[in-house]
Order: sequence, then structure tokens, then C-alpha cells
Amino acid sequence: MPDVTLTTLQSLKQSGAKIAMLTCYDATFAQAACQAGVEVLLVGDSLGMVLQGHDSTLPVSVADMAYHVASVKRGNQGALILADLPFMSYATLEHTFNNCAALMQAGAHMVKLEGAAWLAEPIRQLVERGVPVCAHLGLTPQAVNVFGGYKVQGRSEAQARQLRCDAMTLEQAGAAMLLLECVPSELAAEITQAVKIPVIGIGAGNATDGQVLVLHDMLGLSLSGRTPKFVKNFMDGQPSIPAALAAYVKAVKDLSFPTAEHGFSA
Ligand code: KIV
Repeated sequence: MPDVTLTTLQSLKQSGAKIAMLTCYDATFAQAACQAGVEVLLVGDSLGMVLQGHDSTLPVSVADMAYHVASVKRGNQGALILADLPFMSYATLEHTFNNCAALMQAGAHMVKLEGAAWLAEPIRQLVERGVPVCAHLGLTPQAVNVFGGYKVQGRSEAQARQLRCDAMTLEQAGAAMLLLECVPSELAAEITQAVKIPVIGIGAGNATDGQVLVLHDMLGLSLSGRTPKFVKNFMDGQPSIPAALAAYVKAVKDLSFPTAEHGFSA
């Protein structure tokens, strides 16, 4: 299979074929996920919770992220590597440039920033400097303390209008991809229709252009013992981890995941 690039993801959106993204933090899982057909490996700052045992993503550093990006790169077999810029590492443009350089030089092909319309300027400047950007909207876990918990976003008409507007603004600024987390399925469907760039969902229904899950969640592993509504345990009925990864990719592609029970209403 040829390497996955932004052009591949754009063509998948245009053809209506779904994109399978999964978080990944090391070389062995990178290789396994690629062999299962995962197109985008997200080195997420969720590693702060699932690998490091913190109760949020806030303690994750750029050095942590670069270490895991480099590990994933060594096992990667042609997937696109997307890396999170962690909490406060893009608070100023100077920090943003230096920290993006660290992640791209470690092996990322694209970076992900959490926020809203204020990201337009950093996105514009990053794209000009050769860094593709995925904008993360909706429930942005780095802002958990502003939200007062991990809550569904975009349920009120005003919030929904704001999210639609932010999505358009960030696309115009040059974002190459959007990630929508925990937003009502209907709103995610509208945004996916409204923008030309691929939209990946988590807890955002099945009308987005693709799906992402946290690796540990979809393998049925949980430190807290709580499983978010949008998660499915793909180990159920599967004999091995490679089989569970393949079942995830198949379910994303044939639209059997997520179902209505994994989504949210307004
Ligand atoms: O950090 C992460 O794993 C993420 C996903 C929850 C989308 O951003």
C-alpha cells in the first residue's frame, strides 16, 4: 500500500470511503495498526492518561510527545503520523513554531491543536512554514477545567452555531483536517457536509469522514474502570489484538461503528 498522505485522506473524503484513525504510542502497536489497515496513527496526549496514569492530559510535555512520536515512527508502515501539541505548548507563536519543529523532526507528518477560532492565525502561519494542521474542536480535553468536566459540547443552538462557524474559520485558515470530539451526531454531520477537508469524529456519530478511538479504550483496558459512551470494546469476540484492530478498521469502513448508542443528541 502506498504511504498515506493528505492527498490520500482528501480522496477518501471525496469518494465517501471512511478513514480509520487510532491512537498509538509505540513501535509495536504502530506496526500492528498499520497491518490492520489504520490510515492515521494519532500520537495523542491521551498518553498522559493511558500510559502515564494522570487524571488529565495537562501534565504531558513536548519531550514526552516527541519520544512517543519517534517510537511510533520506527514501527510505522506507511500510515500518516499525527501528533498532539500538548497543553500550553502553543500558547504563543514562538512556542508553537519551536514545539511543532520538535514533533515534526521526531517523525510527525501533521500536528493537532485543540481550540477554536483563535487557532486561525497559528494555523495560517504553520501552513506557510510547511506544517499541516488538524484542528480539534468540541470537547477539547486540554480545556477540561474551563468546561468543568468532560462534557458534550455543541448541545445548545448558540454553541452549535459557534462550532459551525469555528470549523469554517479554521478550514479557511488552512487546517487540513478537523477532529470533532463529543458533539451531537447531527451537528457533526452538518459540519462534515459544510467543509471540504476530512472530518474525523470521536463521540460524534457515524456521518463524519472517519473515526478515531483511544487504543486502550478499544482494547477494553481502562485505568478508571469507566468506559465512555462512545467507546466499543473491539476485543469482544476476537482471538487476538491484531484481530481486534482489524475488526475496528472493518467496522469504521463498513459503518457498523459507531452506532446510535455510541453517539450524543442535542
Ligand atoms: O489525545 C488523544 O488521544 C485525542 C483523541 C481523544 C482524539 O486527542
